[in-house]
Amino acid sequence: MNTKTEELKLKRDSLFKHCEKNAEKQHSKGKLTARERLDLLFDKQTFMENFLFARHRCTQFDMTSKEIAADGVITGSGYIDDRLAFAFSQDFTSSGGSVGEIHADKICKAMQSALKYGAPLIGINDSGGARIQEGVQSLSGYGRIFFLNTQLSGVVPQISIISGPCAGGAAYSPALSDFVIMVRGVSQMFITGPHVVKAATGEDITAEELGGVNTHMCHSGVAHFIAEDDDHALRLAKRLLSYLPSNNIGEPPLKKEDFVLDELPALDRIVPENPKESYDMKDIISRLTDTDSFMEVQSGYAKNIIVGFARIAGRPIGIVANQPMFMAGVIDIDASDKAARFINFCNAFNLPLINLVDVPGFLPGIEQEYGGIIRHGAKLLYAYSHATVPKITVIIRKAYGGAYLAMCSRDLGADAVFAWPTAEIAVMGAEGAANIVFAREIKDAKEPEQLRSQKIEEYRQAFANPYIAAGYNFIDDVIFPRDTRRLVGLTLENCSTKKESHPYKKNGVMPV
Ligand code: HXC
Repeated sequence: MNTKTEELKLKRDSLFKHCEKNAEKQHSKGKLTARERLDLLFDKQTFMENFLFARHRCTQFDMTSKEIAADGVITGSGYIDDRLAFAFSQDFTSSGGSVGEIHADKICKAMQSALKYGAPLIGINDSGGARIQEGVQSLSGYGRIFFLNTQLSGVVPQISIISGPCAGGAAYSPALSDFVIMVRGVSQMFITGPHVVKAATGEDITAEELGGVNTHMCHSGVAHFIAEDDDHALRLAKRLLSYLPSNNIGEPPLKKEDFVLDELPALDRIVPENPKESYDMKDIISRLTDTDSFMEVQSGYAKNIIVGFARIAGRPIGIVANQPMFMAGVIDIDASDKAARFINFCNAFNLPLINLVDVPGFLPGIEQEYGGIIRHGAKLLYAYSHATVPKITVIIRKAYGGAYLAMCSRDLGADAVFAWPTAEIAVMGAEGAANIVFAREIKDAKEPEQLRSQKIEEYRQAFANPYIAAGYNFIDDVIFPRDTRRLVGLTLENCSTKKESHPYKKNGVMPV
């Protein structure tokens, strides 16, 4: 080895060893190092690192002499299941993974390459936030990252893994990405930490209560997946990518196996005879889709609606389904937001939508009206109407009023609508309808309760079925539940050549 090569080796070794030297510190917190995370993310021997020799140029606060290995972030490209992807992985052991000008520039370069090559971006966040010594350069770095997050949005999938602290404005980059995976016990996200909260509002709260996994999965809706540790988070990211095309002009990857679109007699028995009894919509989803292919998104948030990815005969799809087991599957503000965002994502990345309907309506109440259920519910109508991917709706049981439309009726552009014989498609439920339409007769009757029951039954007989809607061509077919997988699978195949476009516009104005 000549002297120059020897010098290179020493330089490289010292930068690589930095991570190794501090591995113990990371491991003691239940975390992997930045490089260990990338090793697990990418297929063996495919990771190519860029800008290893990056160096900050801050001169304040004795920073001139401060070495920050790789400026606190490892960036580059590699292959995940044989497909190109870009990633950055912040190194908390290097000045707390803090984001300075050069650190941000490395992340931006990875993002620009992801955009140029049409490949997903995975961001592994483990950082104390803006590098305090750098001031406005650091803020500018974040600004550039946010700008690029927005440029990449809808062009390539962006996944954020939160493997450590993510505080202040730093939380907005994950928020601008498509999916946030949080790691239990180590990731906390908040705009202002517990001390600032205490000073500003007097409220006492721990960092975990304020921004831990439970907060963001169950209350805020910021998190899409919860991982038990770093390894699990990386496996979730890889699984998620397995449903997605590399970019918005690619097709979702087909699983090339021999699938049978067989009859499923068990589906005939899932919906209870008693219309007031509930059942688990996930039992239908798991049967309709290929074995173990369902990956639920935001499973702890707005449980009255289920969204997630799955496959039917190897073809990736997005599922949106009411959950009668939770709040009777009613649509409220959070359910509208959750579903609208998911539909928007599926449309951007060419994933057909399968909509399973059992919905009694939009949630009534002062809280919902004050909270803007009109504005939020409209997102669902907008997202479905805007989506040009194949849209297939199956009405399982209730499909009442505006919520019938909002779950992707034919009028909102569904390519096919199937109804089970248990479907009830009406303006509202029989009880509500009878109480309004026959209010006077019931009030004046000698036996009001008897007349009420009679009118409810009359209304149910007349409208609580799929045949009236089918008579007006709102339903393509009333089907035996056991045939659902076969018919949805065939329709998906037929729709694979679907072409639909919007009238020209700069952008629509979604009611956010
Ligand atoms: C510079 C930082 C840093 C930061 C941590 N470090 N955060 N250096 N800028 N923001 C350094 C520490 O000085 C220390 O350096 C090393 O990283 C490890 O930090 P510790 O504090 O020892 O680690 P720990 O006890 O685990 O605490 C982690 C932490 C804490 C909770 C993240 O470091 C912290 O509170 N940091 C500041 C967080 C913050 O206020 N950031 C700015 C947010 S504002 P040495 O040399 O000792 O190893 C923001 C605005 C963005 O981000 C706006 C965008 C629009």
